[in-house]
Amino acid sequence: MTQINERTFLLIKPDAVQRGFIGKIITRIEEKGLKIAALKMVQVSPEQAARQYECHKGRPFYDSLVSFICSSPCVAMVIEGRNAIALCRRLMGATSPDDSQPGTIRGDFSLDVKHNLIHGSDCAESFAHECQVYFADDEILNYHLDLERWIYYS
Ligand code: RTP
Ligand code: MG
Repeated sequence: MTQINERTFLLIKPDAVQRGFIGKIITRIEEKGLKIAALKMVQVSPEQAARQYECHKGRPFYDSLVSFICSSPCVAMVIEGRNAIALCRRLMGATSPDDSQPGTIRGDFSLDVKHNLIHGSDCAESFAHECQVYFADDEILNYHLDLERWIYYS
């Protein structure tokens, strides 16, 4: 069922930070009408990367993915809004540059499956897990956005 207050975890990856895309990516999220509940720069540790990507342990790309995520600062965010998990995945676009559509973050700015700019939770269980890797409970804010009455019909 659609939830207006659904939350998702997003990580702006090192390639996007280095290429100066933090603002562009956050702007797309804000312009869609989503609310930022938490946001911080983070130098991801190997332990955090291993926890975030434990579902991929053993895959051929796992070691290179963990080392990439730790290679330079990232921006960690908790984003809230109607169907936020699926919606953010659509805004991000497909994992591979062969599949990501123009108009999506990856489709517009990425040419490589590893350097694909952004991570987003793929389900509520992933969100619960990933969020705890990067944020303490009191870093995720509950607040009202006055604009919401102009974004949601009901
Ligand atoms: P993410 O977890 O980062 O949001 O990306 P995703 O769901 O679209 O893709 P996933 O299958 O979860 O893979 C996680 C990240 O691993 C890198 N990857 N490299 N064949 C490869 O070399 C390969 N496949 C995946 C990508 O950076 C992908 O985002
Ligand atoms: Mg994934």
